[in-house]
Amino acid sequence: MTDSRPGLYVHLPYCASRCGYCAFVVTTDVSSRERYLDALDREAALLGPEAGAGGAAFDSIYLGGGTPSYVPPAETAHLLGALGRRFATQSDSEVTLEANPEDVTPESVSAWREAGINRVSVGIQSLDDRELSAVGRRHDAAGARAALARMTSAGLSVSGDLILGLPEQTGSSFRASLAGLVDAGVEHVSVYLLESEKSRSIEEDRRLRPERYLSDDAQAELWLEMGETLAGRGFAHYEISNWARPGREARHNLKYWTRTPTLGLGVSAHELWAGRRRANVSSLERYLSELSEGRRPIAFDLPVSAAEQAREEIFLGLRLAEGVETGRIQAFVSADGDVRLWEDYEGWVGAGVLERRGSRVAFTERGFLVSNEVLSRFV
Ligand SMILES: C[S@@+](CC[C@H](N)C(=O)[O-])C[C@H]1O[C@@H](n2cnc3c(N)ncnc32)[C@H](O)[C@@H]1O
Ligand code: SF4
Repeated sequence: MTDSRPGLYVHLPYCASRCGYCAFVVTTDVSSRERYLDALDREAALLGPEAGAGGAAFDSIYLGGGTPSYVPPAETAHLLGALGRRFATQSDSEVTLEANPEDVTPESVSAWREAGINRVSVGIQSLDDRELSAVGRRHDAAGARAALARMTSAGLSVSGDLILGLPEQTGSSFRASLAGLVDAGVEHVSVYLLESEKSRSIEEDRRLRPERYLSDDAQAELWLEMGETLAGRGFAHYEISNWARPGREARHNLKYWTRTPTLGLGVSAHELWAGRRRANVSSLERYLSELSEGRRPIAFDLPVSAAEQAREEIFLGLRLAEGVETGRIQAFVSADGDVRLWEDYEGWVGAGVLERRGSRVAFTERGFLVSNEVLSRFV
């Protein structure tokens, strides 16, 4: 599954409105969009020589957000053209656009294809109208189905996001959303547990009206059932939150979990490049002003030490179904000197949270449900 060519991430922060649960760096004020696209090109110009010195051409480009599909497709095409001039890219690159269903029109689909986009990751979240309106989504279930049909029939590789734990969600509505997504012909599914702590309004609502939410136990049972359903429909569970048909794993996202270099452009973008982790500032104003003065808008730029690399290989590698070499964990624990960690590790194996498979160790399906607790010991 490992792939050593680098990937390029570009953050596009604009959204038509803000959803109740979202904590990403986004803005609903589009007045800066033209300046922002210029700033991205300036940033690409600053980074181009460094990327070129790395040698290998990029084989994935990921336009993430925010809502990249909300950028007019002609401007997206212009951006991809500019990136193609600044960076060496493979002709068979995976080029992904994050999209919201309401932006998927026959015209946008054909313009995206024309611009070189071959994969769309679409935020369906649910195919139940009550759930969608409870979190302020702009689309309804019929709109989501129409968007999926438009993209799959145009030959795009489609990934759909769902959220488990939305207000008003029931077991049967979640099962129906999952079945509807698979029936629509997607090749990749991402399911996230609602992180209610990322939104004060959802936390508050959950406290005041708990009857609108599935219990943690009910969510856990649905999660396990979902894994079986997806396996039965030909999807492999390859990362905590991700399932794919054979060969349709997200090439770009796999680079994050295998520590393959990625460069990041745009406000709040993160990167791992030449042994350093860097992040851009998360203030849009600062991002624009730094670049207007010809500087990279860096929030931090740190070398990754050998010890940090070992730790990252474990907590990122364990997110994957293939897990990590047991020897890596042994080496990490003996270097770290924390005896309790080894006892805990043996405990997780004994309790069926982790499972040894040959020379590797990986989460079991049930273990993925408590993976945060385990991974936090390696962070
Ligand atoms: C960058 S976000 C948004 C992409 C796109 N703008 C959309 O709304 O669909 C990617 C995905 O993260 C998930 N997500 C965002 N906030 C979340 C939260 N608080 N808890 C769980 N999943 C979340 C959603 O499934 C979303 O589709
Ligand atoms: S979930 Fe998507 S559309 Fe909603 S605010 Fe976040 S990035 Fe924007």
